[in-house]
Amino acid sequence: MAKKIRVGVVGTGMGRHHMEAFAKLEDVELLAVCDLNLPEAHEFADKFGASHVFGDYREMFAMPELDAVSIATPNCLHAPMTIDALRKGKHVLIEKPMALNASLARAMVAEAKKAKRRLMVEQAMRFSRDAQLLRGCYDRGDFGEVYYARSTWIRRKGWPRLNFEPGGSMGRGEWFIRKQEAGFGALGDIGVHLLDLAWYLMGNPKPVAASAMMWNKVAAPILKRRHMPVEVDETTCGFVRLEGGRVIVLEVCWDSHNAPIQEVRVYGDKGGCSAFPARLYRGEEILETVDLGTAYGGYPITEAYAHFIDCIRDPKKKMIASGEEIVDVMRMLDGIGRSAATGREVTLK
Ligand SMILES: NC(=O)c1ccc[n+]([C@@H]2O[C@H](COP(=O)([O-])OP(=O)(O)OC[C@H]3O[C@@H](n4cnc5c(N)ncnc54)[C@H](O)[C@@H]3O)[C@@H](O)[C@H]2O)c1
Repeated sequence: MAKKIRVGVVGTGMGRHHMEAFAKLEDVELLAVCDLNLPEAHEFADKFGASHVFGDYREMFAMPELDAVSIATPNCLHAPMTIDALRKGKHVLIEKPMALNASLARAMVAEAKKAKRRLMVEQAMRFSRDAQLLRGCYDRGDFGEVYYARSTWIRRKGWPRLNFEPGGSMGRGEWFIRKQEAGFGALGDIGVHLLDLAWYLMGNPKPVAASAMMWNKVAAPILKRRHMPVEVDETTCGFVRLEGGRVIVLEVCWDSHNAPIQEVRVYGDKGGCSAFPARLYRGEEILETVDLGTAYGGYPITEAYAHFIDCIRDPKKKMIASGEEIVDVMRMLDGIGRSAATGREVTLK
């Protein structure tokens, strides 16, 4: 077997799922774990068999024997950590949202090009079985010409920090609800997944404009009572125009007085689909509904990590969710934020 790819993971929240996935891959050695919380870094290094533990990511990235790093830290650290790792010659898998904004995302891509290293964004849902089956339908032409998609992720009580278990594997940090550190609220946390998935199932048409509204209504009184910041969007409703007259409508909510939903629908002139679970709808006069697969099954989605490793081994392999591609997702997020702030449709930069 070829030499194992040696990986280090930063962050022990969502990062523990990265470790679990890498530890399952035969051609990978999980070499190092880093977190400011050293006892937790040791706990997960022991659990998943990593031999090195760090509290300072710069020291970990300086390890010459490390080939790649996988980063699951607060959003404001994504760009600086990625750029530092690339400058030290590491391939990088970075959590979503890729960065705080599109211009930082572009800087990350430029650095990856300069360093000749691979940069992938952990748009995990693309790698779910549902998404891959449905993207297969798109690639085969089952949808015909796709003109519209709608993504909806509604939670009844799902603010990170406020409603998540403190001892759980994610959503623990207060940074999630501070604008400077998170960039966005529900939009950057869960909206980015389903916005990206709709766009991926439409074949990634170039985004051109956005119109949106954001609200912070349901949890605000609780946050104020607990002296916690009320800074980021709780509910976002967006309308994104794409090249060729296509549109994505996005509805995302951390907290609402309504029924939880997690769904993506894609509309084409020959067929359409919905996830989750994955279903294909087609037929002109005789209508057909094809049940394709299981509903999305939770973390870790090992295929994402395996794909990252395959792309390191084969520098020419077309990467799913490359940094370069996800810059367009960051442009959409930026545009949604700017439109909500200005109250009018904005052209995407
Ligand atoms: N792909 C997904 O489906 C998914 C799911 C959950 C979270 N995420 C993303 O993962 C990232 C982390 O989210 P989380 O839920 O794990 O957050 P979290 O707050 O639970 O954990 C973040 C961890 O980063 C550590 N950290 C902070 N600053 C650090 C530094 N300078 N050096 C080393 N470690 C540092 C913290 O100590 C903490 O353990 C976020 O970007 C989030 O959007 C992605």
